[in-house]
Amino acid sequence: MKKVLITGSLGQIGSELVDRLRRELGKDNVIATDIRKIDGNAVCENGVFETLDVMDYEKFLKMATDHKVDTIVHLAALLSATAEKNIKLAWHLNMGGLLNALDVAKELKTKIFAPSSIAAYGPDVNQDNTPQDTFMHPTTMYGVTKTAGEMLANYYNTKFGVDSRSVRFPGLISYKTEPGGGTSDYNVDIFYQALLKGTYECYLAEGTKMDMMYMDDAIDAIVNLLNADPTKLIHRNAFNITAMSLAPEELTALIQKHIPSFKITYKVDPVRQGIADSWPNSIDDSAARTEWGFKPKFDAEKMTVEMINKLTEKFKKEGKLK
Ligand code: SER
Repeated sequence: MKKVLITGSLGQIGSELVDRLRRELGKDNVIATDIRKIDGNAVCENGVFETLDVMDYEKFLKMATDHKVDTIVHLAALLSATAEKNIKLAWHLNMGGLLNALDVAKELKTKIFAPSSIAAYGPDVNQDNTPQDTFMHPTTMYGVTKTAGEMLANYYNTKFGVDSRSVRFPGLISYKTEPGGGTSDYNVDIFYQALLKGTYECYLAEGTKMDMMYMDDAIDAIVNLLNADPTKLIHRNAFNITAMSLAPEELTALIQKHIPSFKITYKVDPVRQGIADSWPNSIDDSAARTEWGFKPKFDAEKMTVEMINKLTEKFKKEGKLK
């Protein structure tokens, strides 16, 4: 990977990946794109940035050709809760965008990474330590696009030799860019509210366990999988990866070790609860560990300390905390 085009660069993952790759590959070797430009945003200001609607295949191809990229990281997609509210748009954007990205990769013979999710599973699998290879019966529109997307990326690999690689991301936790439209988003908001208000009203019920990961490990996973020796990859689309499995009350207890007065209340949103209930409690990521050495650095305790410290710093700078 020497020169990379990233779609959805302004999102939770994109903004941190752009920053990391600009440092690693050099500013001119990262083509950050998103459907809109945000003036003043570091992604748009600190290096190459282009507006790109991933549904516009001709523009996508021309941009990747002109910049002579050897890798595409395709992050533009609707997340689970938004997708459930806009099922047609979710299908068109998540599948159409991926199809275009795969076609660009095929034309230009680039590598491509396009993430899948724990949402690719359905409620009928073994909920604990869910195996890498099992039947996939997602019951959400987001999950349907993720499972179909995995199949499509594998098809482009076997049929056309496209070097496609992916992971099933769990709920990602980060302090730089807030997530939007996901079911796991509470895992970030809970830290914001714990520090700013001391209370958090959770839209998922007590006991809703879900895999999670700190963003640094997610970014490492993208980079390490893209740099992995292809001859070692038995799987491609997509590897299970996880770092912790937590329910809201467990995350609360971790935060209370640092902010003892913090309190959680529950007001369940049936849509997001239904989505979360259809996902595994914890997934087995041994294939990723064996085939390309996946090993997260942040467990739940370390992630909690990091989130509280970094957000405290951020809120002090913004004048929101003394
Ligand atoms: N974190 C995502 C979501 O909640 C799942 O991939 O939609």
